[in-house]
Amino acid sequence: MSQRTLTIVKPDAIAKGVAGQIIARFEQAGFRILAAKLIHMTHEQAADFYAVHKSRPFFRSLCAFMTQGPCLAMVLEADDAIARLRELMGATDPAKAAPGTIRKDFASSIEANAVHGSDSAESAAFEIPYFFNGLEILPR
Ligand code: CMP
Repeated sequence: MSQRTLTIVKPDAIAKGVAGQIIARFEQAGFRILAAKLIHMTHEQAADFYAVHKSRPFFRSLCAFMTQGPCLAMVLEADDAIARLRELMGATDPAKAAPGTIRKDFASSIEANAVHGSDSAESAAFEIPYFFNGLEILPR
């Protein structure tokens, strides 16, 4: 079933100049790009986006990292997009990510891990409208 997911090419990947290579991975894997936006988030925007992690010890550091430069938020669509994107990204910690995954190839650490992808349909339903209104997302 066709499904949408939110991905973010994170500030570390933008700074390294590998955004194009990461987008190519999405395209090669068959994801359709329905929306894309470069945004340099404020601390408040990053904290609200990651509110689910508010009580984690890495929360402050994560918000600082996500606001250190621009990132590229995108809406991707494919059959089973949420699970397939997470497989393509690899494990959160690049040291544990499988060969050929985006994080294995481009991430620097468990925090600066190059990409984000919605972890469930519920998360996608919060994360997509967090960055995009209806007019900014291409119809199917
Ligand atoms: P992401 O998939 O965007 O979801 C939450 C983010 O928090 C995660 O990627 C990492 O960037 C970061 N993160 C998760 N676990 C840790 C950790 N143990 N230490 C530091 N950052 C983490």
